[in-house]
Amino acid sequence: MKRYASKSLVILTGLCFLLQGSDLVAQSSAKVEQLLSKMTLDEKIGQMTQVDLLAIKDKADVAKYFLGSVLSGGGSDPADNKPATWKASCDEVQMQALKTRLKIPLIYGVDAVHGHNNIEGAVVFPHNVGLGATRNPKLVERAAQITAREVAATGIHWAFAPCVAVSKDIRWGRSYESFGECPDLAGELGAAAVRGFQTRLPGGFRVLASTKHFAGDGGTENGIDQGNTVCDEATFRKIHLAPYLPAIRANSGTIMVSYNSWNGDKMHGNKHLLTDILKKEFGFQGFLISDWAAIDQLPGDYKTEIESSINAGLDMMMIPNGPGQAKNYAEFISLTRELVLEKRIPQERIDDAVRRILRAKFQSGVFEHPFASPNLMSELGSPAHRKVARDCVRQSAVLLKNDRNALPLSTKAGTVTVVGKGADDLGMQCGGWTIDWQGKSGNLTPGGTTILAGLKNALRNSVNLTYSPDGSALNQASTVVVVIGEQPYAEMKGDKKDLSIQSEDAALVEKAKASGAKVVTILLSGRPLILGSVLEQSDALLAAWLPGTEGQGVADVLVGAYRPTGKLPRFWPRSNAQLGQPTVTDPQFSFGYGLTY
Ligand code: BGC
Ligand code: BGC
Repeated sequence: MKRYASKSLVILTGLCFLLQGSDLVAQSSAKVEQLLSKMTLDEKIGQMTQVDLLAIKDKADVAKYFLGSVLSGGGSDPADNKPATWKASCDEVQMQALKTRLKIPLIYGVDAVHGHNNIEGAVVFPHNVGLGATRNPKLVERAAQITAREVAATGIHWAFAPCVAVSKDIRWGRSYESFGECPDLAGELGAAAVRGFQTRLPGGFRVLASTKHFAGDGGTENGIDQGNTVCDEATFRKIHLAPYLPAIRANSGTIMVSYNSWNGDKMHGNKHLLTDILKKEFGFQGFLISDWAAIDQLPGDYKTEIESSINAGLDMMMIPNGPGQAKNYAEFISLTRELVLEKRIPQERIDDAVRRILRAKFQSGVFEHPFASPNLMSELGSPAHRKVARDCVRQSAVLLKNDRNALPLSTKAGTVTVVGKGADDLGMQCGGWTIDWQGKSGNLTPGGTTILAGLKNALRNSVNLTYSPDGSALNQASTVVVVIGEQPYAEMKGDKKDLSIQSEDAALVEKAKASGAKVVTILLSGRPLILGSVLEQSDALLAAWLPGTEGQGVADVLVGAYRPTGKLPRFWPRSNAQLGQPTVTDPQFSFGYGLTY
């Protein structure tokens, strides 16, 4: 009886929500049509143009060209990269947009791919590969909600995330942007992130998500970034298109198109996939944004590139070039105008694009809330936000080996020596897309905890904790904690053929082993690395992925304050020879593997 009652309540609430939803859709589509009917061709083309902040030399161009959006690409920061400067810079370009005849606000976009990661002092979450290991959609949703609050605090309405790539070959430098090798997992966590980003914030404002990169980015031959994914359509649908369905059901405001090709054809010109499948068959109602200068890679001159991409279904173009450079935004606008007048791009295609863009803008609430919400600024990098990130870190760590009861570490007595270049390096923990496009090693942002600092907090005074980065002073430790792994990278700069652990890292593990101590190895990496002798010589091995600023979460796992629950979101290869193999019968560890204590 009780169960039935609660069920009808759910149905009733669901119904109200639906009615409210369809009401909102009707209201906003009336507003969209009204606005669209007043717009000139130039105003429409302006809406379809997104320009990188650093390409706009004269901010008055925002109004002059009716720009629909401005972005900050990786490293395109306003002056000093402080939150208040970002807010001022975003508000400044918004003011320009509001000077136009129709006062259509712009939406500002940024790569908030693991927190509001470009900005000093923001909390940095684990990269998606780690979130994939949590298997926890609620937590992923919460992380995206927090990211949205930090993004909105600085006047930004759009995050270029989540990435739902199904990464098949870990030689691909962007593997860490993917939730793993399983389409269902990518879809489930991607949709959770979309819901989190697009949660209504105080005052009724929403940050739009951009599910990316459509599609096949993780399937390219030899794991080459921006490469070619080769397979038949049934396979492409099952692996690479599947994660978009849950993201579309979660109402992803935008989808970013991928640089890669499918069977030799660039995605940016693929009408079958962008229009027939994504928009028509899947019913995607949002708008399609190009990737960074990606249309420039289509065949033909710039005018032909524009024609092919817009006719394929692209709605807004991401343009990094400004005055004095080839293929710049002024040129894009004038060539698009010519193409419409020459009827090479149908007027209906332009109207469809602008309708979609305006609809998403109404969805985000930017018309009512064009500027940053001042009350969110105090939350940026707050302890409450860091606590959630720390929880993500704990849940993402995967315990691969634990012999001799090496873990958890005793918090009562003994000497623990921490070694390795990752132990006290916030930048290495964060990986690429942190402060800079490529990320960087060292103390790159205020706040946060390195793994060493986390261990100091966790072990307090009862354990003698020493630190020797190069392992020259092991101090007769009962346990040596070795923190090693990859240096930061992003996109194609992370493509690698050899994923062996670096020899100096392996030598450090060997040295620790030779001391007779128990050896606990922590790997910081965007993907599995070929373990070689490190597996044998470590008593315990923990894959911490790229945990972000909250290294305390790793320490929580090491001392058993949190018992490991992370499960591998992809299989772990045994050798370089296994990389890129479609199926492997004897991996080092299988998909889903993960120990606990
Ligand atoms: C930009 C990035 C962009 C990359 C593309 C960089 O210069 O800062 O945002 O993703 O170029 O190659
Ligand atoms: C990347 C995208 C990113 C864009 C903007 C591109 O190079 O592929 O993931 O969103 O730049 O920075």
